[in-house]
Amino acid sequence: MPSKLSAIRLGVNVDHVATLRQARGTPYPDPVEAALISASAGAESITMHLREDRRHIQDHDIERLLRVSPVPLNLEMAVTPFMLDFACRLKPKYVCLVPEKREELTTEGGLDVAGQLASVKSACARLAKAGITVALFIDADPAQLKATKATGAPHIEIHTGTYADTSGRKQAAELERITKFARIAKKAGLEVHAGHGLTLQNVGAIARIPEIEELNIGHSIVSRSVFVGFPAAVAEMKRVMVEARYAAK
Ligand code: PXP
Repeated sequence: MPSKLSAIRLGVNVDHVATLRQARGTPYPDPVEAALISASAGAESITMHLREDRRHIQDHDIERLLRVSPVPLNLEMAVTPFMLDFACRLKPKYVCLVPEKREELTTEGGLDVAGQLASVKSACARLAKAGITVALFIDADPAQLKATKATGAPHIEIHTGTYADTSGRKQAAELERITKFARIAKKAGLEVHAGHGLTLQNVGAIARIPEIEELNIGHSIVSRSVFVGFPAAVAEMKRVMVEARYAAK
């Protein structure tokens, strides 16, 4: 293992385990159980997104996870007074601030930090005061990086949705944009994560970017688990990420 290369961590997003539960109003499948299985299978953290419409994760899922999880929670949330109160009361180790629109199928694009600098900066200050480490989910855009630095947030998560949704030359261009952006962000003193739309097929190129220390992945792992089981789906993703990171350069 080359000594200069930082490790790459996997954060498993268990939202869509809750989607399946909410579809029938049953108590199963339990996203907290999925989180425990993920931790045993190699996940370094668990992400849950508590959305305003409560379409998947419910408030009690967060509370239960915090009581039993051996790995930290990364709470994904919008910048709203309710969510800020909620996070400051429950104090997860990590919060990732994301944009949220009621009608969207999933998070669309990064947070416009530059366009709402005052409110994001004040949210970051409040969360930091509560002892929470904050990441801002942003597009690979220099204007957003500059604004992020002004908020004092120590981490970013680069939005990989466009990379995941494209192919061929468009995807190669997006990969190059993300690669350059990760380098600049790390130089600027930020810890760099990435996520959205990552799959076994497209994760390798992102995992190879040496400045990226964590990938947050949900939908493809939950989907794959239908066929191979949850522990195998998590372990398989972790293996592909780690193999890509340490593949000879
Ligand atoms: N990171 C962020 C900030 C997200 O909003 C999401 C989706 O909830 C993910 C990662 C995981 O995306 P996916 O479910 O496509 O793997």
